[in-house]
Amino acid sequence: MRLDSPSVMDETQGDWPLRKEDHTAERKTSRTVSFAMERRVQPELLDQLPADDPRAIKSRRDLQLINFFMGNAGIMAKALRSALPQSGARQLLEIGAGDGRFMARVARRLSPNWRSTRVFLLDRQEIVKPETVKQFETAGWQVSGIKAEVLDWLSRPIASTCDAIVANLFLHHFHEGQLLRIFGEARRRARLFIAVEPRRSRVALMFSRLFWFTGFNHVTRHDVAVSIRAGFKAGELSRLWPASEGWALKEGRARLFSHLFIAQQIG
Ligand SMILES: C[S@@+](CC[C@H](N)C(=O)[O-])C[C@H]1O[C@@H](n2cnc3c(N)ncnc32)[C@H](O)[C@@H]1O
Repeated sequence: MRLDSPSVMDETQGDWPLRKEDHTAERKTSRTVSFAMERRVQPELLDQLPADDPRAIKSRRDLQLINFFMGNAGIMAKALRSALPQSGARQLLEIGAGDGRFMARVARRLSPNWRSTRVFLLDRQEIVKPETVKQFETAGWQVSGIKAEVLDWLSRPIASTCDAIVANLFLHHFHEGQLLRIFGEARRRARLFIAVEPRRSRVALMFSRLFWFTGFNHVTRHDVAVSIRAGFKAGELSRLWPASEGWALKEGRARLFSHLFIAQQIG
């Protein structure tokens, strides 16, 4: 089964699936290069604000523009379509789904071919609005919200599995140990995992400074910079995917500022 779709991802990372040793070598190299940008996970302001705080509401609106600018809904829709080309997914889970507007845009892109898909939107905040539910319904999808901490929920005994687990602008919130746990649980629950994350790069950081000249609020401007520093590059997520045997892994840059990771069970 092929996961590569050059239009979605414009950079591959050497051998595929990626081997642990390759990246150990790569990590050593990056330490010796003084301008290498080390990954740094710091708290984001949006995560500390109550859902109904006007700064949070504005920042979630800004987030839609950032997703649009990064082209993330298109990247996710293409990755899902190429990984599940036949009939699409019957059940999808988005972790860190926020207000669901991102996934509603993905649903719109995938319909009408993907009809009757049921999507579960998991987030620690319950903020999916009725108009967003309507957008899913217009695309022919059913939607359910799950209010939970991702690791608490994923580590519960499995009641059911789904076709795919997806994440957008979410994994960068976590340190490596937490990502290992998320991945360990995710692979028990789905045969496909797709994440679209910020690409960690100085160029992206430089571009993000232009946001000072937009209408983005302080929360958004702070969180964008923090997210880029906590973003990913090279095979950083593949290295954390447990025992990749039986799984096809693909990871690399998507469009200008995004980083795409796909893990799909083979056979
Ligand atoms: C940057 S937003 C992305 C939202 C959505 N994926 C999008 O692209 O619009 C990250 C989301 O993750 C949620 N979040 C952060 N940490 C979480 C955790 N440990 N468990 C569940 N949700 C979490 C936040 O509430 C927030 O809605």
